[in-house]
Formats: sequence, C-alpha cells, structure tokens
Amino acid sequence: MTISNYFTQICKEVDSLLDSIIPEENTYPPDIHKSMRYSVFAGGKRLRPMLTVAVCDALKGDRHQAMTLAAALELIHTYTLIHDDLPALDNDDLRRGLPTNHIQFNESTAILTGDALLTLAFEVLADRLPKTGTDIKDILIITAETAIAIGSTGTIGGQMVDIEMEGSGPNIAAVEYIHTHKTGELIVACVRGAARLGGATKNQLESMTSYGKQIGLAFQIIDDILDLEGDEITLGKKLKSDVNKAKLTYPAIAGVKQSKEQACSLVDGSIEALSIFGTSADHLRDLAKYTLTRTF
Ligand code: IPE
Ligand code: IPE
Ligand code: MG
Ligand code: MG
Ligand code: MG
Repeated sequence: MTISNYFTQICKEVDSLLDSIIPEENTYPPDIHKSMRYSVFAGGKRLRPMLTVAVCDALKGDRHQAMTLAAALELIHTYTLIHDDLPALDNDDLRRGLPTNHIQFNESTAILTGDALLTLAFEVLADRLPKTGTDIKDILIITAETAIAIGSTGTIGGQMVDIEMEGSGPNIAAVEYIHTHKTGELIVACVRGAARLGGATKNQLESMTSYGKQIGLAFQIIDDILDLEGDEITLGKKLKSDVNKAKLTYPAIAGVKQSKEQACSLVDGSIEALSIFGTSADHLRDLAKYTLTRTF
C-alpha cells in the first residue's frame, strides 16, 4: 500500500515545521545543529506525525495544534533512534538509508544530539504549543503523559529490558513488555495527545488508546519481521541486526508465520476499537493496515 496524498501532505507540513524549529546549521555551535538536522531529515516515514494529525483530524481538532505536537513527538522519536543505534545499545551503522549518527559524526556528538532533540521536544510543548491557542491545562496533561510514556517505566524501560534480555531464552511476557514499552508507549502518547487536542470525550479517548496500543505492538512485531525478511535498501537498515545480537523478538519466539498472524489480529482489533467513529477515522484505519504492509 502506498501512502495517500492526505498523509504525503502531513509529512510535508511536519517537515517544514521541523525545519523552522531546529536551529539553522550555522547556529553556534554548528556541529550539534548539523547533526540534529542530519538525523531528523534523513528520511523517516513520519508515522508518529501521521498518526498524531490523523487522530486530531478524526475528532475535527485544530490542524496547527496537531502539527506542533506531531513535530515534538517526531523529535523524541528521532532521539530514541540515535541512542538505540549507539555502540553501547544496538551498535548499528545504517539508519534511514544513511550512516547512523555516531558513524557520520562521532559517539559524543550522537549522545548529545539525542539529548538535544529530546530537550527541544519539551521546548516545543512548553513554548510553541501554547502559542497555537491550545488550552494550558491540556498542554500540561499532554506534556506529563508524554514524559511518563518515554521515561523509565515507558520507552526507556522497554529499551532497558531489550538490552538485558539479549541472549536469553524464549520469554513471551518479557518480549511483550519490551515491545509495548520501547515502541508502543510513544505511539500511544501520539494518539492520546492528539485525541486530547481534538477534545475527545472519555469514551473516545479510551477507544483511541486501545487503537494506539494495538497498532503500537503490531508495528514492532512487523519491525522484527522486516529485520529478518525485509529488503535492506528499501528498509534503510542492516538486516539480521536482531539475530546478531540474539534479541528477544516475536519471530525468534513464535516464528514468522505466527508473528504475522498476531500482528494481523492486533490490527483487526485496532480497527474494531475505532468502531465508535464514523468515516472521519478512515485515515486511521488505513494507517493501521499500513503497519502490516509497510516495507520500511
Ligand atoms: C523504528 O521506527 C524504530 C521502531 C520503533 C521500530 P520507524 O520504523 O518508525 O523508523 P523511521 O522513523 O521510519 O525511520
Ligand atoms: C527500537 O527498537 C525502538 C526504539 C528506538 C525505542 P529496534 O532496536 O528494533 O529498532 P530498529 O530496528 O533499530 O529501528
Ligand atoms: Mg533496539
Ligand atoms: Mg535498533
Ligand atoms: Mg528493529
């Protein structure tokens, strides 16, 4: 499935906003700004911005508010990738079809670039989002939920267990924890933050959260499968990275076929969770299906 004009337009808009948010390359000290721009504009899919804006649109929320949140979340995502690739973590040298940040620059620059992107994201939430007219109470809740989602009981927790479980035997509870935390939590933060911007009722927020949790897990299961069966050029990452590090993944435990079935049933469940929404949620249904058919 190719991404529709609707999503292509969102990617263009978020890229232009990111361009205006990240300091210019020649801003002192130039090396950090070059490096931030290198990784942010290396050609990611922008799944989290697409999701954020599509959720807000489904609820007829404000596009500019959604874009601003989307930019913050993509900065966070890019920080996680830079740190994930470091020699002390996954030690990968290809990302988004280009040398990873620490290969292109050096390790100290990569660490600081991750830190800078993460910090900038919270500047966007605290400084830019209020200027879009977003209710301050909503901003506080979104910021707090985002911080919790990516902290030591969220993304970082998932990354920690991912590293600790390298080389261990099959453990379905552990792999579920890893995937729902290292990847799922940020995806849920996108969905919940955008739903709040769109003025979601309690019931709508719950449905969106269920949607986000299921596509978050499905997305990471497919990531595991692409590591085994993807095309390196299309994927933009070296294949077999997980096998080489004896990572705990779904296909390592259950095989590719069963893992694909599980991802499919999660995506079906995510679409069911949207049943209270009408056609305004069709882009979200498309995005759910895209998590299964994506090739990068
Ligand atoms: C890669 O995320 C890391 C995971 C959470 C699986 P993406 O597959 O969304 O990476 P980009 O942003 O398109 O490069
Ligand atoms: C990384 O999972 C998730 C985060 C970056 C938090 P992976 O290690 O599987 O992601 P890739 O395959 O390197 O993109
Ligand atoms: Mg990793
Ligand atoms: Mg990795
Ligand atoms: Mg992976």
